[in-house]
Formats: sequence, structure tokens, C-alpha cells
Amino acid sequence: MTKLGFTAVAATGISLALGSAANAEPKTLMLHQWATGSDAASIAILGEMFEEAGGSWEQTAISGHTANTLAKLRSDVIGGNAPAAVQLKGPEIAEWNATGMTSNLDELAASEGWDEVVAPELLPVMKPAGSWVAAPMNIHRINWLWASPSVMEEAGVEKLPETWAELNAACDKVVAIGKICLSHSSADWTDSTLFEVVVYGMDLDLYRSAFVEGDPDAIRSDGMIAALEQFQKMTSEYMDPGIFGRDWDNMPVQVGNGDAAFYIMGDWTIGNFAASGFEQGSDYICAQAPTDWDGAGFILNSDSVVFFQQNDPDYQEGQKLLASTILSPEFQTVFNKSKGSIPARLDVDLSSGFNPCQELAQAELKGSIEEGTLVRSMAHNMTVPQAVRGAIMDNVTEFVATPEMAPEEAANRIADAVEAEM
Ligand code: BGC
Repeated sequence: MTKLGFTAVAATGISLALGSAANAEPKTLMLHQWATGSDAASIAILGEMFEEAGGSWEQTAISGHTANTLAKLRSDVIGGNAPAAVQLKGPEIAEWNATGMTSNLDELAASEGWDEVVAPELLPVMKPAGSWVAAPMNIHRINWLWASPSVMEEAGVEKLPETWAELNAACDKVVAIGKICLSHSSADWTDSTLFEVVVYGMDLDLYRSAFVEGDPDAIRSDGMIAALEQFQKMTSEYMDPGIFGRDWDNMPVQVGNGDAAFYIMGDWTIGNFAASGFEQGSDYICAQAPTDWDGAGFILNSDSVVFFQQNDPDYQEGQKLLASTILSPEFQTVFNKSKGSIPARLDVDLSSGFNPCQELAQAELKGSIEEGTLVRSMAHNMTVPQAVRGAIMDNVTEFVATPEMAPEEAANRIADAVEAEM
């Protein structure tokens, strides 16, 4: 049995054979989480390009972020309706590959030279057992600080905060003029996104042992308690009471409108800003989120698509066409300009109409790799299995909702919950 509870039937899955099946008409049904706003607008681009290439596109978008999509995938597989294509990330790619139900993309990858053009950091994720299982769409950076130049100026904040102490000092000034310092909406994944950025920025090694390895002792440590203290200060002193129930894609609007000074979130925020008509440079600016250590930092998240084996030749043809469309330089350009991420391919020139924040992401990704600070995102399904991630996220959100909870108690609760899942 695999961790997913399915019996593994083959180690590598069945290859998507190249060459066209006679009379097959490529079609797909893709399951994914991009249900609203600029997420939905960006995935629509994939549908359009797939249809332009002769495919017939259908999708099932599941709202409520990744956990709901994973639950739907599981019930579809149990019901005998494994999707032709599904958005899948991190360890789940390896786990579903181990069931033997996913298609092997090696032949297509070799014919299109994926190994030569895809960012090397993505290869272990997309090829968990040495063969291509997932088609990478992008690289998202999580540790971004988005800021309103007008609120900073009004509050007398002269520069973007680079450390957590600088962020606190800036927030004290913003709160003093009656503005929101940190825009936020409390959902499990948004709370944990912010929290992982705090842990990473305070202690890189702690991030690795707690959120990459899932070590309960690291989660109980003094370093984690200190990170929870900083996080609690931010949630209780620097956010507004409206965080409970606010829609997540409205957070950037508070910065764009000049209601909030800062917002810490992944770079899909560029898509949210653009959708609301906000301009980089005047309505918002961007920088690496604070770190108490020097140099470039990068918390990586990557979206990718996995293909479950199908009997119908139309869907088999559709899988090849979809994977090939995803890896095409055209898709990687148009999709990522809209999505806010940077291409998974290294040969796409970002100087042609990408946002300056995206150019900065590419430069700081390189810097972070050179400096050995690159990590994958726990909150965005790139490290620990979903059950462990869920245990962390539930307890982080409970901590946000319970302002009187002591950081030490929260650390112990998260550690206990992780221990129960390991
Ligand atoms: C996904 C992104 C998406 C974001 C917000 C992340 O986990 O990887 O593609 O834009 O969530 O929904």
C-alpha cells in the first residue's frame, strides 16, 4: 500500500506513447483549484491554447484551495473516474506516481528536450523516481512583501522593512496614523503562508527541520516559540478585525487602495493587483519579505499537472497535447505574465513584458540558490505530506483565532498534531 492507501501496481506508470492514435480527437478534463479571480483567468489561458492546438477542453475547478482539490481527486479515483489531468504538487506527485496509475511522460519529455530547459530545482519534484510524471507550469515565490508607497509615506516609513524588527517599527508608525499595517484574511492556507514566511525569515535552519523534515522537536523549540511570538504580534496588533471572513483575493486591494501598508503573500498577488487595475511602482511596490539574516531568500512553490492513465484514445491524445502545450515557451510566457509566477523553463526572456517584480524573483531565485537559502513551501504542498501539512495549518489557524493562546502552547499543539501524523 502507498501512503495514499492504494496498492501500487507498477513503479513507473504507463508511457504516453508518441505518435497519434488513428482518428483520435484530443480532449481533456482537468481537475484543479483555480476557481476564482486571476487564478481562474490564468488557467483559462491554458484552455484557450489547448483548443487553439486542436484539443477540446473541459475543467473541474474546486474552490477552497488545494486540500479540497486533493479530496476530490481521491474520491474520483476511488469512484473509478481518475481525471485525465490534475493539478498536483510536491510529495503528492511522488505518492500518486507510486500507485502506478499516472502516465509516464519520458518519451514526450525526451522528444521536446524538457531536461535541458526546465529549472533544475524542479526536476526532483517532477521526476520523483527518475521518470517525468508532472508537467511544470511555473515557479511561484512565497516570501514577498507587497507595500503601498502612499501609506508608507503618510506614516513616515522611509524604506521597506528588511528585518522583522524593522517591520514591527514600521507597523507601529502605520497603526499610529489609523491605517491597517498588514492586510490579511484568515484561512488555513493564508495563515500558514504568513507563518512560514516568519519562521523562514527568523531562522532558516529551523524552517528546514520543522517544515521540510516535519521534526516535532524543532516545532517545540525556543526558536519556534519566538517565531510564534512575532506572528502573534502581527496578527493581534497589526491586522484589522476584518481578517475573519475576508475573501483572500481582496487582500491586495487594501494595499492597492491605500488602506493597508503591507501584505505578505505569494506572487499570484501580481495577478490580483493587475485584475483590480493596480500598477506596480505607483499603487504597489515589492520586495523580499523580511529576514533576520542577510542575502537573497526564496520559498519556492511550483504548479504542475499530472496525468492519470485513460482507456479512451481521445483522452490519451489530449494528455500529450496538454503536456506539450504546458511546456511550450508561448504558454509559459502568457500564463506566467498573468499568474505572477516565473516560467518553469529557463529559456524564456523576462524582459519582454513581465512585471519588474517577476524579474526580481528570477534574480533572487538565482541568488538564493547560490547562497544555499532556497527552500520549498510547506503551506503550498511542496514539503510534508498533506496530512502533516493539514495538522500544522489547523493549529496555526486556531492560534490566530485564539489571541489569548500562549506561543508555547501553540508550539506544543502543532508538534503533537504533527507527531500524530508521522
Ligand atoms: C497555488 C497558486 C495559486 C495560489 C492561490 C497556490 O497554492 O500554487 O497557483 O495562485 O495558491 O490560490
